[in-house]
Amino acid sequence: MTTTQEFLGKEDFTINNQTVSESCPSNIALIKYWGKYDNQIPANPSISYTLNHCKTNTTMEFLADEPFSVQTFLAGNEEVKFAEKIEKYFRNIEQYLPWILKGKYIIKTENTFPHSSGIASSASGFGAIAKCLMKLDETFSEIDTKEESLRKASFLARLGSGSACRSLYNGLVVWGQSQIKDSSDLFAVQYPNDEIHEIFKNFNDWVLLIHEGQKTVSSTVGHSLMNTNPYADRRFQEARENFGPMKEILANGDLPSFIKLVEHEALTLHAMMMMSDPAFILMKTGTLEVINKIWDFRRETNLPLFFTLDAGANVHLLFPNDGSEEKIKSFIETELLQHTQNNGVVRDVMRF
Ligand code: PMV
Repeated sequence: MTTTQEFLGKEDFTINNQTVSESCPSNIALIKYWGKYDNQIPANPSISYTLNHCKTNTTMEFLADEPFSVQTFLAGNEEVKFAEKIEKYFRNIEQYLPWILKGKYIIKTENTFPHSSGIASSASGFGAIAKCLMKLDETFSEIDTKEESLRKASFLARLGSGSACRSLYNGLVVWGQSQIKDSSDLFAVQYPNDEIHEIFKNFNDWVLLIHEGQKTVSSTVGHSLMNTNPYADRRFQEARENFGPMKEILANGDLPSFIKLVEHEALTLHAMMMMSDPAFILMKTGTLEVINKIWDFRRETNLPLFFTLDAGANVHLLFPNDGSEEKIKSFIETELLQHTQNNGVVRDVMRF
């Protein structure tokens, strides 16, 4: 079993000025991570799809031997609060990258999706930062193989934002000890491609931007409220159990069971929020209207349009490219787009 020891940094390194650039996609969970222990250890395993177009592009300039400091720019604008967060994060991971506090950083980052969209930028953002750090590490300490470097990037991204560790791999990705081979609480692994039915490899995710702007409760607070939620243990157990049917579904291409499981996971996540103390609700009226319309549409047409949600009001519309997609797309445009705030929709696909 892999332990954190494996990721400790080498003491022998030479630093010099470097500028590196990396890009990392966002991801959307099918079995949700909600609740964690110290050091970003997840309370249950999760599995996600990595997106294709929703990405963060990051350039990191490292000025060696300057006093440690971090300056960050988001889409050209200086972001002091984000810099403070990154500074804290770098101090926290020093044991894994012993050179990390020995210079100044100028980090410029851009998202390919609208900033106010509520699409989790922390996953792609921390994913891109971790990849930049590993690129620096490769030049400073002559580290490792590509595979080891990617695994360590996933390990480091997890310490920034848990779900970010899944963004380092394409396809379906598992984080958290489970029945999936080599899975770990410390980093994510790619779900074996040869155990996935073709139908799941050509999938759309259209994100309806129901509500733009800040969430009322951050995911950090949401995770911590699971500590006192009386349903938490049952939920963690259920998520673990859901890996059994999910594995079978992915192998045999059972779309109706996939739809049932994925929607159940999304609703359970939000049910947990409603059963927290204090309770909170991140869905908006538009979220519920869209869900009801999707259910009516499925009842009437039998076409495979379904949804998942992350910790916010937006609805991720999932549907395969199986010949039915044109009808589904036209339904979304005519019936669902009207529930968004500014006709906001991000048309993405899963990255395989
Ligand atoms: O990585 P965090 O701390 O932002 O948590 C993300 C949690 C969910 O998006 C709601 C679920 C998940 O597994 O991504």
